[in-house]
Amino acid sequence: MRMYDLIMKKRNGFALDQEEIAFMITEYTAGRIPDYQMSAMMMAIYFQGMTEEETAVLTMAMANSGEMLDLSGIEGIKVDKHSTGGVGDKTSIALTPMVAACGIKIAKMSGKGLGHTGGTIDKLESFAGFSTEITSEHFISQVNRIGVSIMGQTLDLAPADKKLYALRDVTATVDNMSLIASSIMSKKLAAGADAIILDVKTGSGAFMKKEEDAFALAKEMVKLGKHAGRKTTAIVSDMDQPLGFAVGNALEVKEAIETLKGNGPKDFTELCMTLGAHMLIAGEKAENMEQARKMLKEVIEDGRALAKLAEFVEAQGGDREFVYQPSKLPQAALVEEILSEQEGYIEKITCDEIGICSLILGGGRETKESQIDLAVGFILHKKVGDHVKVGEALATIHANDRDKLNTAKERFLKAYTFCKQPVPSGKLIKGIIS
Ligand code: URA
Repeated sequence: MRMYDLIMKKRNGFALDQEEIAFMITEYTAGRIPDYQMSAMMMAIYFQGMTEEETAVLTMAMANSGEMLDLSGIEGIKVDKHSTGGVGDKTSIALTPMVAACGIKIAKMSGKGLGHTGGTIDKLESFAGFSTEITSEHFISQVNRIGVSIMGQTLDLAPADKKLYALRDVTATVDNMSLIASSIMSKKLAAGADAIILDVKTGSGAFMKKEEDAFALAKEMVKLGKHAGRKTTAIVSDMDQPLGFAVGNALEVKEAIETLKGNGPKDFTELCMTLGAHMLIAGEKAENMEQARKMLKEVIEDGRALAKLAEFVEAQGGDREFVYQPSKLPQAALVEEILSEQEGYIEKITCDEIGICSLILGGGRETKESQIDLAVGFILHKKVGDHVKVGEALATIHANDRDKLNTAKERFLKAYTFCKQPVPSGKLIKGIIS
C-alpha cells in the first residue's frame, strides 16, 4: 500500500476502507509516513469529508495507536465525563465528588491544561500536597476504596491523535467535524471508561462558537461512542459567558467547594446537576432524571459530597482541611474591584476575552513549561442580563503583579457590552443528545 494512492483516492472523493485507514495511522505513528503526505491527506479530508464508517474506523485506529488504560481491576461501571473546555469551567472539581458520593466510579487519567486557566489537575493542586503522580496500583485501589481517583498522564494514550492534532493545528485542518470528533473520542475510548458523558460547550468562550456546530459535534461523538460499545450522552451547554462567577484556579476551587455546600452559582449548580444526573443513569445508580437529581441534591444537603472531596484530596496527599477552610487556598496579594464605567444592562460578555485576561494575570499556561499562578483570576459580580450603574463593581480582580493587574483590568472592561433595554440571560442547557 502507498500513501500517495490513498491521498489521491481521498482527493478524488472516494471513501478509504478499514485496511487503508489502519495502514495510514499505524505508519504515521511509527514515523514511516512523512508529515507532508499526512498534511495533504488532512487537507483532502477537510474538503472531501469522511463517511460515518470512515470516521468510526479512524477513531478506533487512533484509540488503538498506543496504550489503553485498563480499568478492569475496578468493580462496577466506570463513568467518564469530558468537557470541550471553556472559561470558569470547574465542573470536574464539584461534579466528581458529587457522583462518587452517589456510588459512581470515576477513574481519570489527566494531563496539565494548556489554556486560559489550568486544567483540573492544576486546580486540584491548589490543595497543598495534592499529587497526581501516583502508581497504577494506588489509582485502582483508591477508586475501589473511595470511588474516585485522578492520575497524571503516565500512559501514552492515543499517540496518533497527539501527532495528528499538532499537524492539523499548523496546516489549517483542525475545523473538520469528523476529524475533531474522532480526535476527542479516540482519547476518551483509550481512557477506558464504560460510559462517557460529554459536555459540549458553545459560544464565544468555546471551541465551537456556533450552536449548530456544537450540536453537529455532539451528535458525531455520541455516534462514535456507541459504535465503540460505550454508553455515550452529550449535553450542549452555554459558554457565551463564564460559567459561575469564578475564573482562575484556586478561586474556581473555592466556588466548587461552595457548590458542594449548596451555595454555588445557579448556572454552575444546574450544569453539575444535569451532567451528574446523566452520569448516575449511565452508571445504573438511578433509573431516571428525577431520581438522579434527588440523589445528587441529598448528597449536597447531608454533606456527603463535600466529605467525598475531602476524602479524595487526602487520598492523594492533599490537605483535607482546605476543603473546610477554603481561606487556606492560595491567595493573591492584590485584590481590587473593577468598577463599571457605563450604566445599562449587560448585553454580552466576550467570554474568551475574560479567559485571556486570566491568562495575562498568570492563571493559565501559554506553553507546556509555563508556571501557573494558582491564586489569580476574577470573581464576576455581574453577568448577562444584570443591570449595572457607573461605579458599581463588575468584578473583583485577584493579582500578584501590578502591571499585569492594570493590563488585565483594562482588557476586562472592554469585554462587557451594555444596552439600555433589559436583556434575557441566555439558556444554559441547549440540548441533550443520547
Ligand atoms: N480538541 C481535540 O482534542 N481535538 C480536536 O481536533 C479539536 C479539539
